[in-house]
Amino acid sequence: MQKEPLAPIANQFLHKDIVSINQFDRSSFETVFTTVQKIKEEMQENRFSERLSKLLATLIFFEPSSRTFSSFATAVKRQGGQTLEFQNPAQTSSAVKGETLEDMARVMENYLDVIIMRHPEVGSVERVARSVQIPVVNAGDGAGEHPTQALMDMYTIYEKRGALDGITGLFAGDLLYGRTVHSLLKGFVNFKNVTLYMLSPTELRIDAALKSELEAKGLKMVEIESEEEIPVECAFWYWTRVQKERFSSEDAYNAVKNRFILTPDLVAAKGNPDLLLMHPLPRVGEITEAVDADPRAIYLTTQIQNGMYTRMALLSLILGRI
Ligand code: NCD
Repeated sequence: MQKEPLAPIANQFLHKDIVSINQFDRSSFETVFTTVQKIKEEMQENRFSERLSKLLATLIFFEPSSRTFSSFATAVKRQGGQTLEFQNPAQTSSAVKGETLEDMARVMENYLDVIIMRHPEVGSVERVARSVQIPVVNAGDGAGEHPTQALMDMYTIYEKRGALDGITGLFAGDLLYGRTVHSLLKGFVNFKNVTLYMLSPTELRIDAALKSELEAKGLKMVEIESEEEIPVECAFWYWTRVQKERFSSEDAYNAVKNRFILTPDLVAAKGNPDLLLMHPLPRVGEITEAVDADPRAIYLTTQIQNGMYTRMALLSLILGRI
């Protein structure tokens, strides 16, 4: 079957690429959420399924990864599929000899059913998606997007709160370079009455063009400058790491890192009893370990578990096994 590269999902997942969260509309999100829920229940009873049996996925990760890599690999293997894994292909694949990404992908499509890729360049995964007929999933393209992280985070808020309409939340940290933030914000435009408080160093505020685009689509964003201004009614706090690898110098990074640190005192001062404390991880000092014991902290537990379930659901949907 021929695929149309980067097509809107429009609730038809079969053979679609997952490159940008902009491909999703409300009903496509709802289908993902329902499928994640179903798979999560199934897996809690029986830790393996055969849904992806006889299917092969390749994971091609040009940038470091722990969670995204492992959760995609386990999402395939726990459903009976197999993986061909390239970590650090810039050193281990024919990329060393100067092969283009497109050629690498075109070779892979002769062997495999889906390409899951992470790369430091914005737009690189889109280029690959346009050059092959098998589905391509974006596991992070530079400071661009990370759509599957947004899906798992949206699912987590939906699961815990029952809806995304009417949600108020806080984003903190690197809102300029953080691709998880970009995808999550773009996802929220599909829901009604969402208000997001944005706390970042001035240098790391959300890009003005992206902000206007999101506001034009109805998202309400309130930029704040200190922890003092965090409203108590937030359903979630989404803390993020300053993206060191996007800075041109160590000094520029050091000047802005850890300006805002999530501590038990801050949660006590500004958190409500139902608050969800989220972070895409890795954290590098911006959440103190003392916060981990708070039952509202879900970044090392529910959020991680839902990452695997969400990737299981998405792969099953695009490979036609659900
Ligand atoms: C994030 C990423 O790679 O964008 N990590 C992840 O995939 N969970 C966030 C980050 O690196 O800060």
